[in-house]
Amino acid sequence: MKILGIETSCDETAVAIVEDGVNVISSVIASQIDLHAKTGGVVPEVAAREHVLKIIPVIDEALKKGNLDFHDIDAIAVTQGPGLLSSLIIGYTAALTLSKSLNLPIIPVNHIAGHIYSNWLDLNSIDEVEYPVLVLTVSGGHNDLVLLESPLEFKLIGETLDDAAGEAFDKTARILGLGYPGGPAISKAAENGNPHAYAFPRAMLNSGDFNFSFSGLKTAVLQTVEKFENNLNQQKINDIAASFQECVCEILIGKLRKATEKYNVNEVHLAGGVSANSRLREMLQEKMPNKKFRYTNKLSYCTDNAAMIAGVAYQYHMKNPDSYSKNTEAKPDPQLEPYQNQI
Ligand code: KG4
Ligand code: ZN
Repeated sequence: MKILGIETSCDETAVAIVEDGVNVISSVIASQIDLHAKTGGVVPEVAAREHVLKIIPVIDEALKKGNLDFHDIDAIAVTQGPGLLSSLIIGYTAALTLSKSLNLPIIPVNHIAGHIYSNWLDLNSIDEVEYPVLVLTVSGGHNDLVLLESPLEFKLIGETLDDAAGEAFDKTARILGLGYPGGPAISKAAENGNPHAYAFPRAMLNSGDFNFSFSGLKTAVLQTVEKFENNLNQQKINDIAASFQECVCEILIGKLRKATEKYNVNEVHLAGGVSANSRLREMLQEKMPNKKFRYTNKLSYCTDNAAMIAGVAYQYHMKNPDSYSKNTEAKPDPQLEPYQNQI
């Protein structure tokens, strides 16, 4: 089954065609990073206008790259939310238009479910993963620890109480003058820094639950920078970046390890933009050497992309082919429903 997926939840206009949930036939991403670097973050109206300009050319390119035309497509998948409503609406309108004009089913997909299933894009079949699986999904907008006991049976066991880890990376990079997006910039600066130079607080590491908090860390970085007044040189910036990164990774992996022990899962996955971080990946291997873990080999599948949307849409199709075409509007803050359970 070939599904054409559309993703426009934030600042990437992305379209992909994926067969049977794992085989990526084509994946095209028109990034707006350069546009938003000027303002140090995403301006929703600017993002939406850019999606309007890019969506049709990106759909065309995805078909062309896959050597396909619309008649080869079996269903249209689209990110329903969460995300910026003005951006979501552009992708959603394109998906509805394709669905109506081609008489194809539309599969609305939760963006976080897409991230959670991004690791399946490296596999040969959706059946290769052994449930139960624990997935740490860390991005600019979300920071969730999700237990999957069977396909699409999401149990949210922990989330951030304030900032997401990616947001902390972005804000810290701004404080250090390292530019946008902050994750890759901090990671690069950290390569030449001492991760033990500053003892930033490991907030909630021993809170006994699986929730996170990163807003205090950002304030701690700000206070450290302010102490230097005009004496902040490149080495100090590198040391702060490395110490910040070490702190975030210790908190994320520390909680993931405790949750792994409690829920006795078969596999542990990292997903979302922050999962591209090489120190986070390294620490997962260091701290959980005996666990089966996965993170995608393609960095473009960690950050926002449409392959993960078309991929998870196939999971929705396999679970319940009749469930999806009823819920047809973009939503800024949907739950991981219909399959989410809170515990
Ligand atoms: O998943 P994503 O593309 O968008 C959201 O759904 O939010 O994630 C973007 C986030 C940004 O905050 C960015 O700074 C972070 O992922 N990120 C990283 C790295 N690459 C991207 N954070 C840490 N290290 C990286 N290498
Ligand atoms: Zn995302």
